Amino acid sequence: MGKRRPLIAGNWKMYKTAEESAETARQLVERVADVGDVDIMIAPTFTALASVFKVIQNSPVALGAQNLFWENEGAYTGEISAPMLKSVGCQYCIIGHSERRQYFAETDETVNKRIQAAIRIGLRPVFCVGETEKERESEQTLSVLDKQVKNGLKGLILDQLDKLIVAYEPVWAIGTGKTATDDQAQEVHQFIRSLVEKNFGSALSDSIRILYGGSVKPDNIAGLMSMPDIDGALVGGASLDAESFSKIVKYKLKA
Ligand code: PGA
Repeated sequence: MGKRRPLIAGNWKMYKTAEESAETARQLVERVADVGDVDIMIAPTFTALASVFKVIQNSPVALGAQNLFWENEGAYTGEISAPMLKSVGCQYCIIGHSERRQYFAETDETVNKRIQAAIRIGLRPVFCVGETEKERESEQTLSVLDKQVKNGLKGLILDQLDKLIVAYEPVWAIGTGKTATDDQAQEVHQFIRSLVEKNFGSALSDSIRILYGGSVKPDNIAGLMSMPDIDGALVGGASLDAESFSKIVKYKLKA
């Protein structure tokens, strides 16, 4: 993995109130205060961003959001913009998570607009891609990813992509306890890196971080991280508990 700095990110989904989130963040900060060689990010719900930021500022833990809307402001009831996220301390934003694609009509086109908006304001997009079980069974995995990556990054140029992070999350592995094997994940990560190379050149494909997500736990992280093209993890369920998430962050100790 060499020059790429690992990133372990926690997606808290629609769990925890502002107070509960701040408490978990406090427990996490205590446990990872000494971590210097891994980037750490947590993405609580929108309503907990401000309270969590107070707890994690000046710690190794950075703040992320779970979604954004692509306009900066306007008559868009219920939406939250990139500048608003930045103003409460976010450095990252998860974009195009499969749950948003599945339940909230997210498409490759809207993912693309959100990525552009994140980049304009200087947020690091964590761009999620991944195939469903049916697509994997019918051997469409690589073609689905090809389409998601191409459409998601449409219109973007190399100079805009230095903050981009890709998260490969096979939909069948999310919240199911079924992780892709290290080799299955590596195969897809290598493919995604080759797509980045084809479209944007080898400087970006060498430096871009590609995270794996889908039932990552303290006992499977070390194997995944030993793969050459896996640069970190996007963790759902196991990130909700500070003890298990900190074990994932400290995967090198376990290995
Ligand atoms: P999981 O979720 O770790 O609970 O499978 C991962 C994700 O949805 O990002």
